[in-house]
Amino acid sequence: MSGAREQFGSRIGFILAAAGSAVGIGNLVGFPVGAAKNGGGAFLLMYAIFVFAICLPVMMAEMSVGRHAGKDPLGAYKAIGKNAPHWNLAGWLSIITPFMIAVFYMVITVWIFGYLSAAVTGDLAELAKPDTFSTFINSPTLFIYMAVVVGIVYLILQGGVKEGIEKAAKLLMPSLFVMLIGLVIFVLTQDNAMAGVEFYLIPDFSKITAPVINGALSQAFFSLSLGMGILLTYGSYIDKRADVPNSAKLVALTDTAVAFTAGLMILPAIFSFNPDTNPSELSESSISMIFTYLPEIFLALQSSIGYLGASAVASLFFLLVFFAAITSLVSIFEVPVAALMDEKDMSRKSALFTLGVLMIVMAVLCALSFGYVDALTSFVSYAGQPKSFFDIVYDVFYETILPLNGFLICIFVMYRWKKANFNAALEQGAESYKGTWLEKYVDVSVSTFIPAILLVIFVNTVAVKYF
Ligand code: PFF
Repeated sequence: MSGAREQFGSRIGFILAAAGSAVGIGNLVGFPVGAAKNGGGAFLLMYAIFVFAICLPVMMAEMSVGRHAGKDPLGAYKAIGKNAPHWNLAGWLSIITPFMIAVFYMVITVWIFGYLSAAVTGDLAELAKPDTFSTFINSPTLFIYMAVVVGIVYLILQGGVKEGIEKAAKLLMPSLFVMLIGLVIFVLTQDNAMAGVEFYLIPDFSKITAPVINGALSQAFFSLSLGMGILLTYGSYIDKRADVPNSAKLVALTDTAVAFTAGLMILPAIFSFNPDTNPSELSESSISMIFTYLPEIFLALQSSIGYLGASAVASLFFLLVFFAAITSLVSIFEVPVAALMDEKDMSRKSALFTLGVLMIVMAVLCALSFGYVDALTSFVSYAGQPKSFFDIVYDVFYETILPLNGFLICIFVMYRWKKANFNAALEQGAESYKGTWLEKYVDVSVSTFIPAILLVIFVNTVAVKYF
């Protein structure tokens, strides 16, 4: 597209949009349950170390590549990589990955929207029935909800960077913070809530095993939206004088704070409404937590705060998760949109339309793979197990490719773009960054152990998952 590249209108707008991408289902549900089951405070400490020691430098790399190149990820890899075929391949990977992750995230967002609608109409008894979820994800109404979610994402992205993405983030993120705090206050004032807080926070270092460490790092990486080309794309919409290190710190801090605070909502709620909870029986899957476990808790709430009160709390919860999911979905969808605009010279409208159609086809295939269509339900089989279309998208793109993309960006900035250029880009607009210990740390870590760790995770995942 000709003309000047679109830009965020303000620093806070950029930070809210990037934080909107980072804060998602992973923070609100995945993190609290993972932390509670895997060592409480000990997990928290380890997670925080991973966020700042491993993920923050990768985030800075992504943002600075985007800002420097002023292009989508493929364009950035091409420009800085001087069109070397293997770096172009890395560029392609960082376009395909977000598109495919967007597909499965879209399906989950549609489920959340369905539950939000049911909660608003007060149908908690129905939501809490054991087979409601499996019936719902295989029902034709799902496609109506899908149309609405696609429509919302379309409308936001159609507005462009400043009038669409930034405006939505400025509206949705503060509302999300307020709803989260409101729910935490409500939950903490209920009976037995403190048992949940204790369970969440008391450290148990004996639980920190190798798989838990691996899981915590993957969770941190996913939670910060790394390896998806998102922060690179958003970075291409900021001013050359913007302070990348500080913005990245703020995004990482906000994301971690929201994840931590969500734990003060989820665990006390579980313990308060179900004092006999056996912690080891909590499922680690966010899906079963959101769609089967929590609806039972909302129903139980009716006996203490009445029908309307319980519906209001449930609606608020699903609205909170929905807002978090929408800002993430918008950010991930913007990556291929930017790529079509930059690489194929398309207008935003045609890029959105082309990808929207493709996305709906893929999301429908995913949605049909839960039993509706046999060929999609047992699409292929690996590691001795039949896998659905949804499973493959999830396993390959979310669980496997993300650390590989992280590895590639580290090697790219340090050895293709070169250390000195990367450093100069980070210093640009960030006077206070020069000569700091963080600068020295980023310099050493991104060229050595961070890519090494990400490569080990990638190889290990491939070995464990597919053979
Ligand atoms: N940070 C998001 C989360 O924790 O849920 C990760 C994410 C997922 C971002 C999917 C964007 C997305 F489409």
